[in-house]
Amino acid sequence: MAEQLNTGRLRHFLSELSALVSRADGDEALILSDGADLLRELVAVDDWLPAASAQGRPQGYQQHLLYCDPQERFSVVSFVWGPGQETPVHDHTVWGLVGQLRGSERSIGYELRDGRMAPTDNEVLKTGEVVAVSPRVGDIHKVSNAEIDRDSISIHVYGANIGAVRRHVFAPDGTESTFISGYSNATLPNIWGMAG
Ligand SMILES: [Fe+2]
Repeated sequence: MAEQLNTGRLRHFLSELSALVSRADGDEALILSDGADLLRELVAVDDWLPAASAQGRPQGYQQHLLYCDPQERFSVVSFVWGPGQETPVHDHTVWGLVGQLRGSERSIGYELRDGRMAPTDNEVLKTGEVVAVSPRVGDIHKVSNAEIDRDSISIHVYGANIGAVRRHVFAPDGTESTFISGYSNATLPNIWGMAG
């Protein structure tokens, strides 16, 4: 039996976000402020994410692409964190918004100080909350599941096809290594049907 999902919620978000990115015409502050409102509305109700996009793996956190704008102006990704799972210290190089759909996650910001990667702030994003990342507002962090006994899921929006962007991870002494994350899924969810 097909999942009973309110996929209309995601379609509405994508339509509004696409219109915002067109209207903003590169005004990042406007995208981050109005986009945060749209993402907050999306993660306020947990009835639309397909099960395949909520799937975790014991090998590590998952990055399920939900949608990528045809002009690659933005992408929307479901991140799934199992207990104990975390990213390396990394950057994004483009604007991003993170909305917590299930559970909670911890983000520790970093900056290079006296030849070491030093933590700057430590935040826990709770269900329903939204936070921004960008080279202009702080772009280097490490993210982990803040729940010890269950998966956490956050919905990320980035100002590019993030799975194809050349980015960096940072060793404790600040040494950069280039990486391209790709995506965990080989196929996209069908969100365009009648449901919702
Ligand atoms: Fe990140």
